[in-house]
Amino acid sequence: MNKVYITGDKHGSLRPFFGLAEKQLADSTDIMIITGDAGYVMDDDYMLKIGTLEQLFPGTICFIDGNHENHRLLNSLPVSEWQGGRVHRIGERVIHLMRGELYTIGGENYFTFGGARTVSRFVEGVEGIDWGLGEEPTEEELAEGRDRFCKYLDRIDYVITHEAPMFARHHIDRIKRVDDDYTLPGILDEWYDLISGSSRLKKWYFGHMHTDKSVTPILRGIFNNIVEAGSEERLCWA
Ligand SMILES: [Fe+2]
Repeated sequence: MNKVYITGDKHGSLRPFFGLAEKQLADSTDIMIITGDAGYVMDDDYMLKIGTLEQLFPGTICFIDGNHENHRLLNSLPVSEWQGGRVHRIGERVIHLMRGELYTIGGENYFTFGGARTVSRFVEGVEGIDWGLGEEPTEEELAEGRDRFCKYLDRIDYVITHEAPMFARHHIDRIKRVDDDYTLPGILDEWYDLISGSSRLKKWYFGHMHTDKSVTPILRGIFNNIVEAGSEERLCWA
């Protein structure tokens, strides 16, 4: 049976995957989910990185989008279906999990919702990309996402978002400003309240804040750690 691993923002780094490859810790049935800011699809040469990823990781690499992605490029790719939800297939074994989708993997349901607003738009190596084009969920995506979230509320095992609910910020050292007109963290607070009573939900993972920290027994920030979904058992790749 496949194992599902969760990890956080990679910003294009292949280092963890070299580490995993050296230790031969994964096999072809395994799935790695990156909670946004994967950063492998940034320019027209992205297939070089995707090819390297596929050489290094024998299983399937999935990522939700963060804010530091080339959304225009991602959204130009054809949409197909994988494990019951819509995806952009980047390579044979590299997949973009879209906003507001539900995927069934090994009998467990993963709800995904990428995107966030960039606070600093001058991150090394990514200047020149069309910021603001798709990094933040639209009203339509939020409404559709909420509908699907509510529809499957008692069937969701894992929630994967890039942004964190607003309340999580009080438990995290890293400060990220929230503009008055930036509604996503507050909306995720509401979604968290809706699902936190579910007996089925095991974890809600978020990236974005660059922290490896449990905020509540359900809500877990993830960054460098690579954990098996639902557990704190970490893959040691360094
Ligand atoms: Fe990031």
